[in-house]
This record gives sequence, C-alpha cells and structure tokens, in this order.
Amino acid sequence: MKKNGTTVSTSIHIALKPAAAFKSVVGELKLALARNGIQFEEGTNGRVVQKEAEIGRIKTWKRDKHIVIEWRPASWEPNEVGIVELRFKPSMVGTEVVLKHRQWGRLIGEGTEIAGWFSSEIAAPFLRAMTPQTLGDWITDRKARRPSGPQSRAIYRDPLFHYPNFRVILSELALKPHDYLLEVGCGGGAMLKEALKSGCRAAAIDHSPEMVHLATHENSEAITDGRLTIYEANANKLPFADSTFTCAAMTGVLGFLSDLVDALSEIRRVLKQGGRLVALGSDPTTRGTPAAPEPMASRLHFYEDTELGDLARKAGFKEVSVVRRDMEQFAREAGVPKEALPLFAGPGGPFLLATK
Ligand SMILES: C[S@@+](CC[C@H](N)C(=O)[O-])C[C@H]1O[C@@H](n2cnc3c(N)ncnc32)[C@H](O)[C@@H]1O
Repeated sequence: MKKNGTTVSTSIHIALKPAAAFKSVVGELKLALARNGIQFEEGTNGRVVQKEAEIGRIKTWKRDKHIVIEWRPASWEPNEVGIVELRFKPSMVGTEVVLKHRQWGRLIGEGTEIAGWFSSEIAAPFLRAMTPQTLGDWITDRKARRPSGPQSRAIYRDPLFHYPNFRVILSELALKPHDYLLEVGCGGGAMLKEALKSGCRAAAIDHSPEMVHLATHENSEAITDGRLTIYEANANKLPFADSTFTCAAMTGVLGFLSDLVDALSEIRRVLKQGGRLVALGSDPTTRGTPAAPEPMASRLHFYEDTELGDLARKAGFKEVSVVRRDMEQFAREAGVPKEALPLFAGPGGPFLLATK
C-alpha cells in the first residue's frame, strides 16, 4: 500500500470502438447507479449525487476518452478526497475500459483493515458476479424477467415472434370500443399498440423502468389522446382500484411470477364482474427449447394445463379453461418469415381463459 492511500482498479476489453464503448458504458453506469439511488450527471460540470449530497464532481470530461471525478467518499471527513478515473483506450479488440479509484483507503486503516475491505467490498462481489447463480440471474433479468439494455429495447419494440401469441390473445378477447383492457408485463408495448386498434382504452404495467419508457414512447399518441396509461409497477400490487377493467391480458410473463395465485387474484380484483382474462401460460415442454432456453428455463415456473386451471380457480376465477390454438395461421398473419413458420406448427399456448 502506498503511503497516500490505495489504488483500486478494474478493466475490461470490449469489442466496440471507443466512441461506442464510451456511450454504452457511461449510459449503463448511469442507469445502474440510479437503480442504487445515485445520480450521475454527465458532462464537464457533471456531478455524482447521493441523497442530495454531492459525492463526486467531474474534473475532466473528454468524450470517448477519459473522465476524471473528484470523489468524496466520507460525509464525516469532508476533506478526504479521492480521484476516480474512467479511461477508454483503443485496443486490438476494440476498447480497453479502465476504472481506477486512486488515493482511496485512508479512512479504513492499514494492513488487515484494507485487506478486509478489499475482500468483502471488491473481490467477493467481483467473483460473485461471475457465479452461475448471479450470472444466470443477470442474463435472465436483462433479456426477459426485467428487460434492459439496447438489445432488449430493440427486441421488445417489435417482437416479431411474439405477435402470433398477441394475435391469439386479441382474437380471444375480441375487444370492442367500450372495453377497458389491462395488460400486465407489457414489455415494449407492442401488443398494446395492436389492442388499441380496436378503439378500446387500455392501461398497462411493467416492473422494468426501461420497458415502461419504451412502451410509453411507442404508444405516445394513445397516451396523449387519453386512451392509454402505463405505470411502473409489480404484478402482485396493481396500482388500480377494484373493478376497473373489462378485460386483462398477460403474455410472456406468467412463468416469471413467484406467486401466481397472488398475481391472478390481484388481476381478478381490478376486473369488473364478468371481466375476462386471457394469459399465455408457461408450458413445461418448452423448458430448454429456444422458447425457454437456459439460464432462463431454470428460473421460470412451468405449469401443466390442469395445474394452471386449478391455480386460476384458486385465485377466484370461474369459467376457467386452458386452450391450445394452431399457431401457424396466426404466425403467417403476423408476417413471420416463411422459413420460420415451422416453429409455429401445431398447437401453441397454453392460453388461460378465465372470467371474474
Ligand atoms: C418476456 S417479457 C414479455 C414482454 C411482452 N409481454 C411481450 O410479450 O413482448 C416479460 C415482461 O414481463 C415483465 N415482468 C416480469 N415479472 C413482472 C412482475 N412481477 N411485475 C411486472 N412486470 C413483470 C418484464 O419486465 C418484461 O417486460
């Protein structure tokens, strides 16, 4: 350890040009810090703020190259200042991104205390991030359970292979202009867009902030017209009054719900008497296939048709059935390319149909 303190550093080679690596890393870092209650304000006069207290002040902001932040890690020692650096260096692969915190550690002590801090706060989380459990959870969240990032935004903006399911659900719901539809787990809002063509009103929730943002952007006209509202919320606690909606839909979500009866009861609560629910189930035969690959598969709950029906009845629904539909026609109508149509051959689903 140097007399002045300790330097902690980490780096990674990313197959992106420096400008793209800069944009991506800074954007993702900003979102990740925000999820932890820390605001990262970009630019020459930028700051890092936690609970209204300034933790960092940007001293150098060289776009695509170098950021230097003066960092104050201890509100109880305001004169204690470290330097955080983020460098983007062109490399054989694309860009080497280096994160360094210099002059750090004086507040902790020496020897055993620095070793303890480094082991528990840096080394253990670093290694934990690369365990099957944590990595599998990250990939599952990133791609489907709570989608985030540019790839997920591009997929859920226009999820071509989900349209056959959307079509089945919409044909079962047979929406009319007087309907008020709830969609739970709306992703990028592609099914909402289709549903609204019926002239109905709708509301939707998703617990992914990025999906709420995307669905809002993709349906901005309907929102401006007062026909649609979208909230960031959890399926188990819907932000709506009892008996609000005439119908509800859920697709690609059910398998992720940790307490399905609880979530279905919550949907039932906000449906009017006679309100109908159509939800795509999660079929055990898809486990490990392209429809439910690992590491997602081992994090999904799968239900046999009879079990799914029983759970809906347990949640208080009546006229419950679980149906299969020939998906190929729906896929053709949705514009799925000819070569991919065989993926949709045969009975699809299961689709849960239920009434309050
Ligand atoms: C596989 S995506 C499907 C998105 C969209 N329905 C579609 O089919 O394109 C699953 C969506 O459900 C959302 N979701 C998962 N669990 C949820 C929960 N407990 N509450 C709210 N949204 C949830 C995710 O954030 C994600 O947007």
